[in-house]
Amino acid sequence: MSAKKKLGILLSGRGSNFLAIADNVASGKLPGCEIAVVISNKADAPGLAAAHKRGLNAVAIEARGRKRAEHDEEMIACLQENGVDLVCLAGYMRLLSPQFVQAFPQRILNIHPSLLPAFPGLDAQEQALAYGVQVAGCTVHFVDEELDHGVIVLQKAVPVLEDDDAHTLSQRILEQEHIAYSEAIARVLSGAYGVLGRKYVKLPEA
Ligand code: GRF
Repeated sequence: MSAKKKLGILLSGRGSNFLAIADNVASGKLPGCEIAVVISNKADAPGLAAAHKRGLNAVAIEARGRKRAEHDEEMIACLQENGVDLVCLAGYMRLLSPQFVQAFPQRILNIHPSLLPAFPGLDAQEQALAYGVQVAGCTVHFVDEELDHGVIVLQKAVPVLEDDDAHTLSQRILEQEHIAYSEAIARVLSGAYGVLGRKYVKLPEA
């Protein structure tokens, strides 16, 4: 049997996407991989505490007061030491340096709470409500050097209801995020897909 692929999770806060991935890895719903390391740029992130509680290898690499390049170098070293194959940003609220992106070419995923390319950046759900869209959702995409821009791996849509506020819409999207992220990881690790221009497509069978 081939060795398990190693995931490295980066987070800054609550960590519900990380926990959904961890649950699916633990239950076997997301087979063939393991979480090798969880890194938080904030020592007090609830997601980091949750990772410790589960007995996972979890470290704080504080970003506050440090230059991005220097902080990212420390994270790159940590991920490489842990043999990480795929980096998953799960509510990691800091821009990555070009060096970081180049260290893991097409091996960094992010989840964003909108149907990209609509509403990149912060407060995507508020942006969607303010714009008046009737369909919202989430996107798992590869990370490139532009914000919320890399090739889309998978999207899930949800309706926007007339009486939605940012909280109710965020919750509806978050439920789908928790499903979408593991599906996207499985798709990437399967080796059955490849990037073709802006598209992530199923490769012809050999
Ligand atoms: C999610 O909405 C995700 O799409 C965005 O940040 C939020 C993180 O939530 N990138 P959590 O920390 O995974 O609960």
